[in-house]
Amino acid sequence: MQHLYAQRRNALLEKLNSGTAIFRSAPMAVMHNDVEYAFRQDSDFFYLTGFNEPNAVAVFAPHHEEHQFVLFVEPKDLEKEIWTGYRTGVEAAKEKYGADEAFSIEELDEKLPEYLQNADRIYYRLGRDEGFNNCVIQHWRKLLATYAKRGTGPVALEDPSPILHSMRLVKTPEELDLMRKAAKIAVEAHNLAVEVAKPGRYEYEVQAEMERVFALHGGSPAYPSIVASGGNACILHYVENRRQMKDGDLLLIDAGCSYGYYNSDITRTFPVGGEFTPEQQAIYDIVLEAQKQAIACVLPGTPYNEYHDVAVRVIVEGLLDLGLLSGDLDEIIEEEKYKPFYMHKTGHWLGLDVHDVGTYKQDEESWQILQPGNVLTVEPGIYISPYVKPVEGQPEVDAKWHGIGVRIEDDVLVTEEGCEVLTEGVPK
Ligand code: GLY
Ligand code: MN
Ligand code: MN
Repeated sequence: MQHLYAQRRNALLEKLNSGTAIFRSAPMAVMHNDVEYAFRQDSDFFYLTGFNEPNAVAVFAPHHEEHQFVLFVEPKDLEKEIWTGYRTGVEAAKEKYGADEAFSIEELDEKLPEYLQNADRIYYRLGRDEGFNNCVIQHWRKLLATYAKRGTGPVALEDPSPILHSMRLVKTPEELDLMRKAAKIAVEAHNLAVEVAKPGRYEYEVQAEMERVFALHGGSPAYPSIVASGGNACILHYVENRRQMKDGDLLLIDAGCSYGYYNSDITRTFPVGGEFTPEQQAIYDIVLEAQKQAIACVLPGTPYNEYHDVAVRVIVEGLLDLGLLSGDLDEIIEEEKYKPFYMHKTGHWLGLDVHDVGTYKQDEESWQILQPGNVLTVEPGIYISPYVKPVEGQPEVDAKWHGIGVRIEDDVLVTEEGCEVLTEGVPK
């Protein structure tokens, strides 16, 4: 794997020109009081280094004579390691992770100026940690103060994300291996869920069985699993998962697996008792058709928005047929009168982050064009909350539709020829 990180670093270094880039690891996150969550590395930091510890900083200085890639890490400290786990330490970090030089994180303030003073700009994305933002800004301020004397130094602070995130948008074969594995595990979990979800069982039982599958394969939930039966399916981020399921309910499960930090994201909706009611069937058929037609637009060379627009059109046509909307198709779409039933987008980029990085638009006018190696979700839905308020002029919703929520979500890779659905192993 190390050669992959080196390739990514070289691609980044080439694009930095005379700038110096600073990336910071994720911090240890606190769950409550001093109890910590399992550590999850920052995705950008991991993508460039493969280094999986908190309290580290990576510096990229293509113009430096000796050290283009420098790591600052926690030093070895056997006493602390007994509590928090083993650390790679400075020496091994340099060797194992291919850094040209490595230092203790405690030396950051002392060493950083050497890598910044001849750069024409600092590439750093201001993050949530104000303390670290301040650290970077203070270094910059000091160099600005001596710029006149030296005639060199950074005169701009720039976000490195446009460079790095356009790289992350195109997955390499090695990344796709991990994404396929994350997809395969989640497929197995969803197929098991259909067996477990029966009238009388609880939503959390389904969640437990699915997350057991993730764990058995060395994975973990990619995000809080949504197991939403009955009217809960109309709450987009329902994660309580406490309800007892009943015959006649639909069950919406949105659960994905994280494996090697890469994610899958799958939603299926099915009747707990095995049979759709006519209303549930009607809504399901529309969503399924919307998804089918949306997936058919996932092709290289297609603008990003196209699959959403196609899904919206199919959904609006279907809701017009059922009398849940009325009026002119184009006007309903134009004025977004469908939004009480379909309020989210049809998908997002997928990768190291579930809602992965990368822009959706090239500029104000034009959308990103799909290219081989992009991975995205296709997830149309229809939600008819009991509290639904149709927009003015639209029909009142008959109670027989209340509480029906359907979403179908797959993970789709753009290929040279078209696309590959990574999660097609779960029936629809
Ligand atoms: N599970 C998060 C999403 O579908 O975007
Ligand atoms: Mn999802
Ligand atoms: Mn999703």
